[in-house]
Amino acid sequence: MLIQKPKGTYDLLPEKARQRYFLETKVRENFEIYNFSEIRTPTFEKTELFKRGIGEETDIVSKEMYTFKNDEFTLKPEMTAPVIRAYIENNLNNESPLQKLFYITNMFRRERPQAGRFREFSQFGAESIGSNDPYCDAEMIILADSIIRSFGIDDSIIKLNTIGTAAERDVFFVEFKNYLSNYLNELSPDSQRRFVINPLRILDTKNPGDLKILKDAPVLYNFLNDETKGNFEKILDILTVNGIEFETDNRLVRGFDYYTSTTFEFISDALGAQNALLGGGRYDLLIQQLGGKPTPAIGFAAGIERLLMIMESKELLPDNNDELKLFIVSMGEESKKFSFKMLENLRNIGVKCETDFLNRSVKSQMKEANRSKAEFVIVIGDEEIKSNSVKLKKMSDGSEVTVSGFENIKFFLDK
Ligand code: HAM
Repeated sequence: MLIQKPKGTYDLLPEKARQRYFLETKVRENFEIYNFSEIRTPTFEKTELFKRGIGEETDIVSKEMYTFKNDEFTLKPEMTAPVIRAYIENNLNNESPLQKLFYITNMFRRERPQAGRFREFSQFGAESIGSNDPYCDAEMIILADSIIRSFGIDDSIIKLNTIGTAAERDVFFVEFKNYLSNYLNELSPDSQRRFVINPLRILDTKNPGDLKILKDAPVLYNFLNDETKGNFEKILDILTVNGIEFETDNRLVRGFDYYTSTTFEFISDALGAQNALLGGGRYDLLIQQLGGKPTPAIGFAAGIERLLMIMESKELLPDNNDELKLFIVSMGEESKKFSFKMLENLRNIGVKCETDFLNRSVKSQMKEANRSKAEFVIVIGDEEIKSNSVKLKKMSDGSEVTVSGFENIKFFLDK
């Protein structure tokens, strides 16, 4: 029986792999301009890193991790905790007080697969470590926006919130839980569970019944102190001055325990239920929680599959440009020897060319040249071997030119 790929994974066939490469190139160009440097970390980490970094009660850590070897290791479900682990372990703070790092990599979460949600998926993201300046928050949001716009996507919506400090949230929780306790039996089972272990997460419920109850609930923003509010207002102001449109959403809390103050998400109506294409926020306490010196930081990550889905639906992806420059048709052993040498010599000077490896007839080799949209064809027969010159045939109009020497061939191919 045929062995199939695991649920929630996918094969990137050549056409899609090319599209992904196109996207990744644009991502790199943007990060370069914004002065971010690439970081790569292992595919798996100690499980403890994610428990401590993301939080034991989050959905990711409690239900979605691929953990193995007696629970010791886990395939990375996200990159913020690994980047911070690497930052601390390699003393990156000694190199520069502000580290601006980016990554493009795959992640693993055992979620229920559906459109736009996979068990192995890819993100590009950035972490800016060392500053709590509101301009730094603004830089991250503007960078994220500029990357998404560089793909041609101009209708994503930016949602912004601040979830304040742990102390501010504790005061809020008292009132919030007090209010919700009147409706406990009416809340969805998920929210009932969160009421006990992580009440903040009740705020991003999608359950219509819960939403109705939340309508009159105390609002976290009203429990924040002037400094937190002032910082948030400043970020909004910088974004406005720089022409960024956004919406504030006081229910945007996100699914990680490491966030402090600013949280943001980019959403798209083109995506259906899984409408978040990018998410991020400030995490000023994570570095000390993972054993480093207290250091403020902020970051974001975007879902590559979701972005490609949007780009496909908006026809923003480039046409396949895998056409051959030249196909060399051979006939018989001598011809094959000559063709192969010519092939390698032309490849050495940068010509994308191909020959036959299936011992096909001249007719089927010509068919193959057509199928692969080769711009030129050369047929190697006795005459060509003897004279060491070839007829270069242009497929579009059938015109031919006789040439000898690889450099000359290249000259005509490039003409
Ligand atoms: P996240 O919101 O979990 O944040 O993921 C960021 C993006 O990855 C989402 O907006 C979504 O587009 C994509 N994504 C997440 N899960 C899946 C999935 N199962 N299948 C397909 N796409 C998915 C983080 O991961 C944080 N580490 C972001 C961050 C960086 N915060 C601070 N720094």
